[in-house]
Amino acid sequence: MDGAIAVLLAIVVGVLVKLVFFPTRGYKGPPCVYGWIPWFGAAFQFGRSPLEFIEEARLKYGPVFTIYLLGKRYTFVAEEEGFQAFCTSKDLDFEQAVQQSVQHAVSIPEDIFYKNRSRLYSMMKGRLSTSHLHQLSGSLCREFKNYIEDLGPEGTKELTDLVRHIMFPAVVNILFGKDLFLTTRDNIKEFEDHFQNFDNGFEYATQLPACFMRKWTKSKKWLLKSFENVALHAEKSNPSDGSSKTVYQYLLDTLHGRQFGAHYGVLLLWASQANAIPVAFWTLAFIVSDASVYKNIMKELETVYGKTDKDNIRVSEDDLKSLQFIKWCILEAIRLRAPGAIVKKVINPIVVQNVVIPAGDLLTMSPYWVHRNLKYFPEPNKFKPDRWKEANLEKNTFLESFVAFGGGTHQCPGRWFAIMEIHMLVVLLLLKYECRLLDPLPKESPLHLVGTQQPQGPCRVQYKLRA
Ligand code: HEM
Repeated sequence: MDGAIAVLLAIVVGVLVKLVFFPTRGYKGPPCVYGWIPWFGAAFQFGRSPLEFIEEARLKYGPVFTIYLLGKRYTFVAEEEGFQAFCTSKDLDFEQAVQQSVQHAVSIPEDIFYKNRSRLYSMMKGRLSTSHLHQLSGSLCREFKNYIEDLGPEGTKELTDLVRHIMFPAVVNILFGKDLFLTTRDNIKEFEDHFQNFDNGFEYATQLPACFMRKWTKSKKWLLKSFENVALHAEKSNPSDGSSKTVYQYLLDTLHGRQFGAHYGVLLLWASQANAIPVAFWTLAFIVSDASVYKNIMKELETVYGKTDKDNIRVSEDDLKSLQFIKWCILEAIRLRAPGAIVKKVINPIVVQNVVIPAGDLLTMSPYWVHRNLKYFPEPNKFKPDRWKEANLEKNTFLESFVAFGGGTHQCPGRWFAIMEIHMLVVLLLLKYECRLLDPLPKESPLHLVGTQQPQGPCRVQYKLRA
């Protein structure tokens, strides 16, 4: 009899503990697309067209669903309650979600990563905040003009190449230091090619063993080796006062474990270029392919620069403030080509729309699809720069539900720098050249989830000095 009472008591206590400490009781877990191969899960079906797969799963399973991929559970949230949780819940962790990818990408060990991440984040956020950008804008303008000179009086190029050949070396010189051996005329091609291999393979290389990614691994090693010299040089020439320090020198000053300076250099290089270059491409492609948008932009440029000699133009921050319409075009291009997925790790179970998402899942939000929500973005697939009239950009706020830079506390610390550099590049290029696309505006490739979408086909531009 005593035994039976003890069992009953244990059950009652158990139920009470569950009620008090596990309030998710009674909720179901999300429906899960498992696929049929152990560990790989749905990877093969998913990999054919990840962006479309996500939308099809949403239509089939509803606003919260899990896709099992390469040993991990990705739980997608596709409606407001989920976005809210993604941006604000304390039961989610950004660092734990990205640590392994960072380790694969640039070989930064786990302990070093955790020691440094939030310090580096604060440093980057400060150095690249709107109040510090004036320290970079003058030299960035000179750098852009220098590389734009190389285009000559006229020509035809792939628009992505044109943008990359200007933006890549100019931004490296600004963030890492002008006298880098890597951006000299002799070395830049090799540097750019290795970066491109590294960027192209990044998404898969952060998930798969190195043996599947030979070309990528070779470029990673080349970049890490080269950045050992960059780090050494930056340390030696590091000024004691802040006035002429580069962002990379600030990074080295902040770092615990100086021996990883080169690894963090490659990481900063990737973060600063991988999204900004395609966004600059899309912005120009959207503008030049739309006659009325292009006309508006030229009118705006005329108002600010009038008859000023185009070769002597210095694009100031005040000029950029007056060139609102171009800024709207940049933000609209970012909205339409936003990253396919951003993730945070669930550290304590959370409930979203009556579904309990277990600890260990990777909570995933797709900015690409969020930006196609009719409630926030009517005619979501249209390039409509005017919709940005509603955003309070003077106060540095975006439109509601615009999450291309992430949401909540971990938003991209480089976002204001990114917008400024793209703004400046578009102004300088369109002031100097008349441009015409020789191919129709390409669609976005459905193959990428990480970062800004890539074009699916060619997009050649013909350019000619303005009379
Ligand atoms: C239009 C261009 C850009 C886009 C769309 C973009 C987007 C993003 C996104 C989505 C994240 C992750 C946020 C999250 O998961 O919640 C991120 C993180 C980051 N971005 Fe950007 N980014 C851009 C340009 C830049 C630039 C130019 C820099 C540096 C100069 C930069 C530096 C970083 C860094 C350091 C992080 C990691 C932040 C952390 O540790 O939490 N980004 N970016």
